[in-house]
Amino acid sequence: MSDHFDHAEAHASPVGDLMGAADKPSHFWRLDDGRQTLVLGACGARLPEVVYWGPPLPGDADLSVLHAAHAIDVTGGMLDANPDLSILPEATRSFPGQPGLILRDGDGTPLLPKFCFKAARQSDDALELVYEDTESLLTYTATFTTNRHTRVITAKAVLDAAHPVHLHWFAAPVLPASQQSDEMIDFAGRWCGEFQLNKTPWSAGMRYRENRTGRTGHEHFPGLILPERGATNTQGQAFGFHYGWSGGHKMIAEELPDGRRQIQFGHAARMEHAASKRFETAPLYITYSVDGLNGCAVAFQRHLRDEIVTWTETGRPRPVHYNCWEAVYFDHKLPVLREIAERAAGLGAERFVLDDGWFGQRDDDTTSLSDWEVDPRKYPEGLGPLIDHVHKLGMTFGIWFEPEMINEDSDLHRAHPDWALGSEDQTLGRQQKALNMSLPEVRAFIYDRMAAILTQYPIDYIKWDHNRVLPMPDAAQTRGSYALIDRLRAAFPQVEIESCASGGGRIDFGILSRTQRVWLSDSNDALERLKMQHNAALFLPMAVTGSHVGPRRCHTSGRTLDIAFRAWVAAQRHMGFEMDPRELTEEEATVLREVTSWWKHNRVWTETADILRLDSPDPAVIAEQQLSQDQTRFVAFIGKAGTSAQITPRPVRLTRLEADANYEVTLVNRHSAPTLSRGAPALKDGPLVLSGAYLMAHGLTLPWSFPETMWVLEGKRL
Ligand code: DGJ
Repeated sequence: MSDHFDHAEAHASPVGDLMGAADKPSHFWRLDDGRQTLVLGACGARLPEVVYWGPPLPGDADLSVLHAAHAIDVTGGMLDANPDLSILPEATRSFPGQPGLILRDGDGTPLLPKFCFKAARQSDDALELVYEDTESLLTYTATFTTNRHTRVITAKAVLDAAHPVHLHWFAAPVLPASQQSDEMIDFAGRWCGEFQLNKTPWSAGMRYRENRTGRTGHEHFPGLILPERGATNTQGQAFGFHYGWSGGHKMIAEELPDGRRQIQFGHAARMEHAASKRFETAPLYITYSVDGLNGCAVAFQRHLRDEIVTWTETGRPRPVHYNCWEAVYFDHKLPVLREIAERAAGLGAERFVLDDGWFGQRDDDTTSLSDWEVDPRKYPEGLGPLIDHVHKLGMTFGIWFEPEMINEDSDLHRAHPDWALGSEDQTLGRQQKALNMSLPEVRAFIYDRMAAILTQYPIDYIKWDHNRVLPMPDAAQTRGSYALIDRLRAAFPQVEIESCASGGGRIDFGILSRTQRVWLSDSNDALERLKMQHNAALFLPMAVTGSHVGPRRCHTSGRTLDIAFRAWVAAQRHMGFEMDPRELTEEEATVLREVTSWWKHNRVWTETADILRLDSPDPAVIAEQQLSQDQTRFVAFIGKAGTSAQITPRPVRLTRLEADANYEVTLVNRHSAPTLSRGAPALKDGPLVLSGAYLMAHGLTLPWSFPETMWVLEGKRL
């Protein structure tokens, strides 16, 4: 189908035909991606409403009837017609909830626009709608793009003004929320405890999440899942939302007095400090699922991996990492690092990442951020000898930077104290300030320093950290960070970047359109990680989710965990090691080598597998299934996070298998059953052949196990 462009003149409804136009609908559009249909309908020249979002509708559905059927009744105590819940609810049209746009003229006068249809352009996979307010001289453009491979719709809005205006709040295209949903799930967290699920029942009024920290934050992953009543991980209907922006978002989930519900996402309010003639929202990614939360999760995982991340070398498998942070911290000694590198390579590492401490006089976290020159005390001959050694061991070399940050005790701060963001008397975070990334001279300086290191040394990876919140939210700061990363990516296209911010403080599709990995958490505690990974899989695929085997006694929780559990939890995602390998016993090293070898052997398909969260009948068990793209094989990780209430394990049901097919199912680590497992469940003896129907309906009965252990189950379709 070719693009077509509708103009206001082509339609009967005159501009200004407002509330009374409900019976004269004149604009309808539908978007389809094979799994979902989204229908927009507008009365006269008014902004459209999403009148349907759900499973695919017949191709010949009469959109005008849908629009009419969507209208709710009017009774006592209500206006004579219901204000539209449009894609940009307007305060001027008696909308009883939060408006989608709040702005002021250049002189501070509030502007109350009323947008009227100007034009629409539609192609097979995109819809662009243009509306204008001829009095305030504003143009609003909304775009919706579908993707038949991932089933994620990307919605975005732009505001153009004839004169500079001040923006307070601007929502990406606003969606109605299902009235069949009892609760909403959004995300909270903390350092070492990212991706905690918040479940909030719907009620009259508003749930308002606003992140004013200036970065995505551990506490504020910008996502929302709306399960309908009865939905679980594997079944039922659910709607997913993600706002792809790294500067802090605002979310409104509001039930209006008339019972309708709206979802708004945008940048945190008032983070555009300067008046401007153009503002745009970040992309809002949305998806509808008919097969539970997993339908949303798989859509987001695929969309991120296949459409958002710009991979450096397609086809190259994700390398096993070694990161030296928890081994040496700031105490860099070449002979020690060489020995660590040798041991890491012996365990199976393929990339060695030199963490914080290699530059300036960085002996602790009070000094040197922004002085990105190799410390000659620690590396008298530069980084060359270490990198050569790492290369000889068959590993590539990665390095840590924290580009947006500056210590007061740094050469740069002494020369340019004014380059720091925020006031002089601000509270420091980890003894540091942020640089003002909106200043081109700051970006140029940092670029030159980083480019010098990347040019001088063969480096294929940057761990890009961001360890403090900003003194205030500022969209220009986020755009400045993006610009610096973009410039570096353009100049060094083979260098991968990991987004880290004290762990998972900057994880979103905005940063991930420029980076290839996230450091999910500073917690290397496998038990904590098991839970975080499970929840993060609602959005993040395996290929981008870093997960490392930490020290025997975890540095951030004090918990001591067995090497097999630590290794299998890391093997669920992009695997790495982050401990002093000299602490490993021979037996521990053997286990780690074996699991790493299993991971390498399987990554050819697990990297692109769908991560499916399983519905565990036992709250002590956190289970997932990774299903290959061709659906011929899977691995299920059944993690025992605590002690079960009942004495023997309940069967774990698998999902998305072919009911009629047979699968050979093998308990990979069956030999690690403890002696207290005295019975003879068949899986302990070797592979079983079972039908998809059985595996999905009855589920698999596993041997008894200790808490803080993991069963790993492989399946192959016969
Ligand atoms: C915080 C990160 O999350 C850690 O992994 C480590 O890189 C430190 N910063 C280094 O300062």
